Amino acid sequence: MPSGVRRFALATLATSTVALLTTVAAYAGNGGFLPGEPHSPNAHRVHTAFIFVTIFTGIIFVGVEAALVLFIVKYRRGKRPRTAEGPQIHGSSRLEIIWTVVPVVILAVIGTFVFIELPGITDAPKAAAADQTRVQISGRQFYWQFTYPNGAVSIDTLVAPADQVVNEEISAPTWDVIHSWWVPDFGGKYDAIPGRVNKTWFKAPTGTYEASCYELCGIQHAAMHAKVKVVPRAQYDAFIAQRAQGGVALGQEEWQGVCEKCHRLDHAYIGPALGGKALLADRKAIEVLLRNGQGQMPSVGKDWTSQQFDALIAYTKQFAKSGGNG
Ligand code: CUA
Repeated sequence: MPSGVRRFALATLATSTVALLTTVAAYAGNGGFLPGEPHSPNAHRVHTAFIFVTIFTGIIFVGVEAALVLFIVKYRRGKRPRTAEGPQIHGSSRLEIIWTVVPVVILAVIGTFVFIELPGITDAPKAAAADQTRVQISGRQFYWQFTYPNGAVSIDTLVAPADQVVNEEISAPTWDVIHSWWVPDFGGKYDAIPGRVNKTWFKAPTGTYEASCYELCGIQHAAMHAKVKVVPRAQYDAFIAQRAQGGVALGQEEWQGVCEKCHRLDHAYIGPALGGKALLADRKAIEVLLRNGQGQMPSVGKDWTSQQFDALIAYTKQFAKSGGNG
């Protein structure tokens, strides 16, 4: 191969490698090449498995791309006539054995590694009864409802105790559709399937973590974000004790997490504008509407407790008179 061509090929390879590596650096941490910073034991295992697999796929990717660039340059037509035939090659036993055996060995190594890591991902560590927390996570069109052991409810913000095992029971109501619950910093993704409970757990330090729905579940799928607020145990206990009383704070979460996914006060959005509607102060009418749905609107509050409706109306009654041109 002429030295000019070789230099060009090497330069191309070098610049693309540098570009790829700097992209990785630029996106390092969350949302880029690597999964989120692991903040729960499961996530650490997922992270390790990811890095392990990435080493192999990285080497193969660079090898294949380098060969591609090299061959494009080295075997280009150049000045040969269009009709010129290339050399006719028939089989190469050694090469064929190599490209069969090497991938088999790589897959066996990856498979072994993953099977060693997997059991730890599914099993929750045994925790003392005192620091066990069980939260029901329910995916609905288009909000996340969290129910705590004492019956307290929160919408789109899960509050959890720090540094303790939190068991998650992930589901969806039988009348809803499939959603998918994922907190990237905590590890795996779990489907929220109507009528079925999927169980997982996490144990995280204090902090706020992002969660989202990862199953296309309807027009506002993309709006199904949530937060996991991990706080000291005492703060968690105080929160659920207070929230069990219901109140306007719950109502505000319901308004923002459930109603505002599709409605605005002053203009039509997915659904009609709500500002000034008498409905927002009518406890009975709002319950009928939310329990049964109407037209395009799903029955977002079909299984809500009366406390949840009380909380909602306590918050929304302010919009019945003021707020936009309804
Ligand atoms: Cu719920 Cu997508």
